[in-house]
Amino acid sequence: MSKHNFPPLKNDLFLRALKGESVERPPVWMMRQAGRYLPQYMKLREKYTFFERVETPELACEITIQPIDELEPDAAIIFSDILTVPQALNIDVQMIPGKGPVMGNPIRKVDDAFSIFAEDIPGKLSHVMDAITLTRHELNGRVPLIGFAGAPWTLFCYMVQGEGSKNFDLAKSFLYQHPEASRHVLKELTKATIDYLNAQIEAGAQAVQVFDSWAGLLSPDDFNEWALPSLMEITANVKGVPMILFAKGAWYALERLSYKSGVAALGLDWTISPEYARTHTADHVTLQGNFDPSHLLAPIPEIKLKTKRMIDRFGTQRYIANLGHGILPHVPVDHARAFVDTVKGYS
Ligand code: CP3
Repeated sequence: MSKHNFPPLKNDLFLRALKGESVERPPVWMMRQAGRYLPQYMKLREKYTFFERVETPELACEITIQPIDELEPDAAIIFSDILTVPQALNIDVQMIPGKGPVMGNPIRKVDDAFSIFAEDIPGKLSHVMDAITLTRHELNGRVPLIGFAGAPWTLFCYMVQGEGSKNFDLAKSFLYQHPEASRHVLKELTKATIDYLNAQIEAGAQAVQVFDSWAGLLSPDDFNEWALPSLMEITANVKGVPMILFAKGAWYALERLSYKSGVAALGLDWTISPEYARTHTADHVTLQGNFDPSHLLAPIPEIKLKTKRMIDRFGTQRYIANLGHGILPHVPVDHARAFVDTVKGYS
C-alpha cells in the first residue's frame, strides 16, 4: 500500500464493484479516456511530443484529469503508455503521429533477446510514479486512480516487430524459431511488470489494469504456453490493490483466467456477449466492458439505448461499464458523455 498521505476518497463505486461489494449502480470509465477526441488534449499535443507529455508529471497529471473534468466518470487512469517498459529495457521507442509507435532497435537476433535485462525499472520510470503521486493529490479524492502496464506477450510483440502490425508476423516468427530466447525476454518482461506495478501501487495507484492487447493473436494452446504463465506470475506477485486483466481477443481463456488468475476483474472486448462472459467466469469475478467503441459514432439516442441494453444484460452488480477497447479519436465528446451519463442514470 502507499506510504503517502492522500485526500480521502469521495467516490468509491469503482473500488466497491471491483471488490464485489454491492453498488447502487455500475461505475463507468473508458479505456483511453484521456486522448485525441478531447479538444483540451489536442491543444497540449500541439505543444509537446507524446513522450514529453508522458514524462512530465505535471502534463501527465493534467491530461489524466481532463476527462474527469469533462465527463465525470467514476475512475481516472494515469496518462502514460505500455511502451514505457520497453523503453526502460533500452528499446528506443518513438511515437510517430498518424503511424503509432516505432522502435529504433527492435529484437531481431538471439543476441538482442539475451541482452534484455530488467534492472531497476521503478528507478528508470520514476516519472510515472511521480505523475501518479501528483495526480492522487490533484484529484483530491474525486475518483480512484488506476495504474497500468502492458502484459509481457503484448510488449514482446512490439519489441520484436518494431512497430504496430495486424498479425505481428515477425514477433510470431521469432517466437517459434527462437523459443528459448523468447522465453528469456518474456521472463524479464514479467519481472519488469511486477516491479513496475508494485511501484505504481506504492506511489498511489488504487487499482491496476494489465493490457494484453494482442492476446487474441495466439491460439488457445499458444496462449497457455506464451501468455498465461507471465500473467499468473504477475497476478500472484502484485499486491495491495485490485487488478483488472484485459486480454483482448482471448474469449477462449475467460474461464481459466477467472478461476485461476486471482484477479478482481476481467476486461472484455465487444466480441463477447454478456451472457457468454457470465456463464464462463467464476461468480466472484467482476466483469468490465464491453461497449463496441465504434458504437459511440452512432446517433446519441442509439448510444443511450445500446448502453442501457448492455447493463440490462450484464446486471448492475460485479460489473464496471466500459468500452470493449480504447475510445476512437473521432468520437464527438457529446457521444462519449451520452455513454457515461446513461450509465450514471441507470436504474
Ligand atoms: O487510457 C488512458 O486514457 C490512459 C493512457 C493510455 C495510453 N496508452 C495513451 C496513449 C493507455 C492505457 C495506453 C495503453 C496502450 N498503449 C496500449 C494498450 C491498450 C490498447 O489500446 O490496446 C497499447 C497497445 C499502447 C501502444 C500505443 N500507444 C499505440 C499502438 C499507440 C498508437 C495508436 C494510437 O492510438 O495513436 C499509442 C499512442 C497513444 N497512447 C496515444 C494515447 C493517448 C495517442 C498518442 C497521440 O497521438 O497523442
